[in-house]
Amino acid sequence: MNLDAWAEVYLTPERRQRFREVLAERLGCLTVVFEHVGDPRNISACLRVADAFGVGRVINYGDGRYHRNRQISMHSDLWVEVLNLQRFEDTVARLHQEGFALVGTVVDEPTATPLDQFEPPAKTALVFGSERNGLSPEMRQACQHLVTIPTYGFADSLNLGTAAAVMVRHLAETYRQRGGPDLRLPAGEQERLYRLWVERDVRTKLRKRGIPAD
Ligand SMILES: C[S@@+](CC[C@H](N)C(=O)[O-])C[C@H]1O[C@@H](n2cnc3c(N)ncnc32)[C@H](O)[C@@H]1O
Repeated sequence: MNLDAWAEVYLTPERRQRFREVLAERLGCLTVVFEHVGDPRNISACLRVADAFGVGRVINYGDGRYHRNRQISMHSDLWVEVLNLQRFEDTVARLHQEGFALVGTVVDEPTATPLDQFEPPAKTALVFGSERNGLSPEMRQACQHLVTIPTYGFADSLNLGTAAAVMVRHLAETYRQRGGPDLRLPAGEQERLYRLWVERDVRTKLRKRGIPAD
């Protein structure tokens, strides 16, 4: 039986329709990059943010691979792809090749643009820094724009997940209102992800029934 036939048997039409609806809202113009983020729980929190606002893939750049924490991500890691990259050059080259401008998110930086005044480029890779040091000097250098969330209290820096929620929500809404050719994921990419999600769901269902899923 092929995948579509399995899907007919094991996934309800509502489930398949839901996949299509979520994929139709995924943004092709926005991605997120983590640079040397030390605590994987912070990435898990950001994955939940990414999924909620329509970012389908993030890059985890640094020494450590992302280890999922489903209690925090609430299974968003099933729906948001995490690409682990170790080298700075590979990360920047890949983003440029995909047409993304790097937009660094920074704390306490007078030259940075306040988020509400920022006019995002056609495609944005939003780069978040480590909990302790923020963005590295080389990453700052590589960024075409620096953006900050202005704060007015004793705390100038926000927790990574909180900063991601504010930034991603703001940019996602800006892009949705603006529209344009890069807004959605290309049809081929939506189809690839649809088939991936269907296959994973079918395999899970088969395993639960004790049917070999390979
Ligand atoms: C806990 S903060 C890092 C604080 C670090 N001491 C610094 O000086 O950047 C972790 C990351 O969250 C993001 N972030 C936190 N607060 C922010 C703010 N007010 N504006 C923009 N980004 C922020 C940045 O990407 C930052 O690198």
